[in-house]
Amino acid sequence: MTDLSTTVNGLKFANPFVIGSGPPGTNANVINKAFAEGWGGVIAKTISLEADKVTNVAPRYARMRAEGTKEVYGWENIELISDRPFSVWLDEFKAVKDAYPDGILIASIMEEYRRDAWVEIVERCQDVGVDAFELNYSCPHGLPERKMGMAMGENADIVEEVTNWVMEASKIPVWAKMTPNVTHIADPGRAALRAGCHGLAAINTILSVMGVDLDTLRPMPTVEGYTVPGGYSCKAVRPIALRMVMELARMQQDEYPEATISGIGGIETGQDAAQFILLGAHTVQICTGVMIHGYGMVKNMCEQLAAFMEQHGFSTLDEFRGVSLPYFSTHADLVKRQAEAKAEAKARRADMVQKDTHWDGEKFVEQSDRLVSND
Ligand SMILES: Cc1cc2nc3c(=O)[nH]c(=O)nc-3n(C[C@H](O)[C@H](O)[C@H](O)COP(=O)(O)O)c2cc1C
Repeated sequence: MTDLSTTVNGLKFANPFVIGSGPPGTNANVINKAFAEGWGGVIAKTISLEADKVTNVAPRYARMRAEGTKEVYGWENIELISDRPFSVWLDEFKAVKDAYPDGILIASIMEEYRRDAWVEIVERCQDVGVDAFELNYSCPHGLPERKMGMAMGENADIVEEVTNWVMEASKIPVWAKMTPNVTHIADPGRAALRAGCHGLAAINTILSVMGVDLDTLRPMPTVEGYTVPGGYSCKAVRPIALRMVMELARMQQDEYPEATISGIGGIETGQDAAQFILLGAHTVQICTGVMIHGYGMVKNMCEQLAAFMEQHGFSTLDEFRGVSLPYFSTHADLVKRQAEAKAEAKARRADMVQKDTHWDGEKFVEQSDRLVSND
């Protein structure tokens, strides 16, 4: 019997599937829809105290499709945080908690680099009953022009300072959402945990340029002939997200074993989620996937995750969290292991290309096949 429920930082999630901050959590109407469909939690669209400083443009999305099909692999957005008034959000948070008291509702918050602003947004949101905070240190476009979002998240000192302000005011769990647009994501992650927050979330979108229109010669998405680099998400980013979650989880397990991780980036199936959990995630978030497949996808994901667990005899998420982490090594170690394995498996090795001189024109395809790890 598999149990998908999980308690993370004291919060009881019915399952680990959480709506990631963005359009799928952008007002009470859609948040209620998510809970009605069975999502374990919702991170609302990021809010700030002064929504009138936020003006969106259209078009603000651009998609990458698999060649010859309608399947969407990559998604770029130049969308800002919520443009809806803060007071309206407070009313809606309260209404959602009244309607779904057991649904875990997390406020994603972002403010300017001022202690009083961060303290105010924390205090006013927690007063209306949200369950936790996610600190948006990671929006890569628009907001950094105001020194917000990624402009904070790429600087570990600022992450630590702002998280300290939040922790002084917050009475509920706090996750810090990390930007992938840094060389070593563990550095700002460690800074946030050092300041005492309860968990990390990763990744936000990857700074990108979707392409250039070859008729108009203008970069996309094109707004009045111009664009800005945007944030890339969807399936295409999953390998990068897995790598970054792995790096955060290794640091977290070594240095902050009580802290938690919420894995994000290109998740669309229960199998995708299982991989993030195997690399140390406690919950997983989905944003673009919901924009493509709709809220009902959570049912499939729960079934797929349960099937994976049954296949391996896992009855709870705790039993397999982080199980794949010890299998990351160094290149030198891989070379050593392979040399040892070679010595032991002479017969098999005879047909396995070990050096470039072993390639044979007649056996080229079979030899290539044998070097593939994941068919
Ligand atoms: C249209 C769009 C809007 C987003 N807005 C926010 C936001 O307001 N706050 C935030 O923290 N992340 C935002 N994100 C980032 C997502 O929450 C998520 O971190 C990222 O898209 C990777 O996950 P995914 O591949 O499941 O979408 C947005 C993403 C998209 C596609």
